[in-house]
Amino acid sequence: MKTMKRIFVLALLVVGMGKAMAGNYIPTAENLESRKQFSDCRFGIFLHWGIYSMFAQGEWYLQSGPKQYEYAKAADAFYPHRFNALSWVRAIKDAGAKYICITSRHHDGFSMWGTKQSPYNIVDATPFGRDVLKELAEACQQEGIRLHFYYSHLDWGRDDYPMGRTGHEVGKDSTKADFQHYFKFMNAQLTELLTNYGPIGGIWFDGVWDHDNDATPFDWQLEEQYALIHKLQPACLVGNNHHKAVVSGEDFQMFERDLPGDNTAGWNKSEISALPLETCETMNGIWGYKITDQNYKSTQDIIRMLVNASGRDANLLMNLGPQPNGELPALGLQRLHEVGQWMKKYGDTIYGTRGGDLKPQEWGVTTRKGNQLYVHVLNQPGTTLSFPLKCKVKAAKLFIDGTSVPFKQKNGTLTLTLPEKVEEVDYVIALTTKE
Ligand code: GLC
Repeated sequence: MKTMKRIFVLALLVVGMGKAMAGNYIPTAENLESRKQFSDCRFGIFLHWGIYSMFAQGEWYLQSGPKQYEYAKAADAFYPHRFNALSWVRAIKDAGAKYICITSRHHDGFSMWGTKQSPYNIVDATPFGRDVLKELAEACQQEGIRLHFYYSHLDWGRDDYPMGRTGHEVGKDSTKADFQHYFKFMNAQLTELLTNYGPIGGIWFDGVWDHDNDATPFDWQLEEQYALIHKLQPACLVGNNHHKAVVSGEDFQMFERDLPGDNTAGWNKSEISALPLETCETMNGIWGYKITDQNYKSTQDIIRMLVNASGRDANLLMNLGPQPNGELPALGLQRLHEVGQWMKKYGDTIYGTRGGDLKPQEWGVTTRKGNQLYVHVLNQPGTTLSFPLKCKVKAAKLFIDGTSVPFKQKNGTLTLTLPEKVEEVDYVIALTTKE
């Protein structure tokens, strides 16, 4: 029996080692520092902007009916004359967000910068003719905002992209599929993005799932592509929205429309890694601008999402779909401003924190920074709140005004006294503890 047990343990060890050794990626010191800075941000804004915005029906519009050659004509009318990178960045900064992730090229294949790899881009194919990513990159640098680029692995427009499970109706010539050609194209584009736009905080890949149903596994050659990114900018974090466990070469893990650990969307089944985490969500119901969707989440809901993400040690990347005229939607701007008002007061309990000592509870979450453990009460449990806590509490104060909060700590359980009725979106008690 003992021998059996030993063999079993040995087998587990071998499998475990295999896992740890899969891939050769060793992050550099700059990369590790960048991961830390990224997690410290806690709040970012996602922007889905492209010629699809003109149809005002979300970023998947090309997939829902038009032929590519008809759709592409929109480029010739794209003139977002109200675009002002600095005012976007300032509005986002005012919201308390610390980084932006913008679509450089979405599934429709249109590039939002002056790429030399294809004329189908904002500089060469639109009357607007301006490199909006360059303008945004400059504004971000000026305002101290970190910039990430979303980049689609799948492309509904290019013939060399081997068709997956989407894009069958757009009229592509599938006999011309040539992944090596397409791979070179992508890498040349990524090289531009990581050479001409200053320091880029991260590349946010999306679309690998297009080949999830292939009979033989599709080889995206991700490790080679990731290595190129790290060679060009070691501090640039690589993340991939593949809805699977992280693979070698990735620096952060993302969860689409779910907090880490939840799976309401149905595709977030992968285990939570030790890498920095990020949850992305839409502010209304869709990523790209949709004229009929005015169903924006309330400011309270957005704040609670942010708090809930922080308590799970994750960033929140909240999306807005800019309009075809270059403005951010008015309701979105209003929410940004209101979240910012809250962040001005409560930012210390969010920025630079890590998920606290407790796993998320019915009543809320905890975040920690140094010897401060922040207790975020989101659903009032009653007039007392008790939970197990190993470390010794030296003081308990209401975060917002420093009022002492009565507490008892006995046999490893902390009990805090709460008011009759908590009015705040998030009632925060700051505990000073032994770390
Ligand atoms: C999904 C959608 C895509 C969107 C992304 C953002 O992958 O297909 O349109 O950009 O989610 O999370």
